Amino acid sequence: MPGGTTIRAYAKINLTLEVLGVRPDGYHALRSVVMPVSLFDTVRLEKASDVTSDYPGEGDISVKAARAILPPGAGVRISLDKAIPEGGGLGGGSADAAAVLVALNEMYSLGLGVDRLAQIASSVGSDVPALVLSRYAGAVVMEGRGEKVSPLGVSPGRLLHIVLANPRVHASTKEVFARCSSHMAQNPEILYNMREALASSDRGKISEALANDLSGAAAALHPEIASAAERLGAVVNSRVSMTGSGATVFALAESPETADAAVAALEAEGFWAKHVTNECPVV
Ligand code: C5P
Repeated sequence: MPGGTTIRAYAKINLTLEVLGVRPDGYHALRSVVMPVSLFDTVRLEKASDVTSDYPGEGDISVKAARAILPPGAGVRISLDKAIPEGGGLGGGSADAAAVLVALNEMYSLGLGVDRLAQIASSVGSDVPALVLSRYAGAVVMEGRGEKVSPLGVSPGRLLHIVLANPRVHASTKEVFARCSSHMAQNPEILYNMREALASSDRGKISEALANDLSGAAAALHPEIASAAERLGAVVNSRVSMTGSGATVFALAESPETADAAVAALEAEGFWAKHVTNECPVV
């Protein structure tokens, strides 16, 4: 349709998330491997005279993204069809914002390169630069508060069957960070191990390399997260990690059948659960 476009905004999981210290601005310095997964929101954009969104709440961050990139006088009507649960550590709102930046760059022929897009993204939200770059590069490394992003440079080289599980609690990012004790010492092995594990395409190695320094704090605030992790680990028979500041946990299943069976079992126990993969086609 002339003047309009529809795109997918993929969720992310943090394969690793290291808390390296507290910055002078009060934010925590992080290092994280962020990988997009096949669960997506659908974002529809139509040229308009001002910037509006049909989505209350998280729609705000998409509006903020549109305002940050559009030249004066240009506008857009944003419609969001949400599939990514909010506040679960899956980056839904940030993915929508990243999709808006990338799509408006094209729609309005702004000619911005990915580095400039990532720079604008960092004024929109901490996770947005990683989700902009991941649209071009797949898995990325994010550092600092999230403003430094680079392609990881390796991809799993095979389809991963990932089971997401959420105990239907909302973990406040602010509260989780306030409670976490960072290890404060850079440990290059965590990033190195994940890179090597992905390059090997070995599900067991990738599972072993999963790490999240926020898990303890999130589970202390919400014991339901620990219960979800325990149940997920049992039904998938694999190591479990948490994404972002929670409350979603995930594990790599041996086969699509194991993943589907795990989702059915978890849903029967009242969890939100989803079988996703690392395949995120641009459509
Ligand atoms: O990024 P967002 O605004 O969602 O973060 C919410 C809160 O989480 C921040 O106000 C801050 O207290 C904490 N946070 C942090 N370090 C980060 C990201 C978030 O301390 N890198």
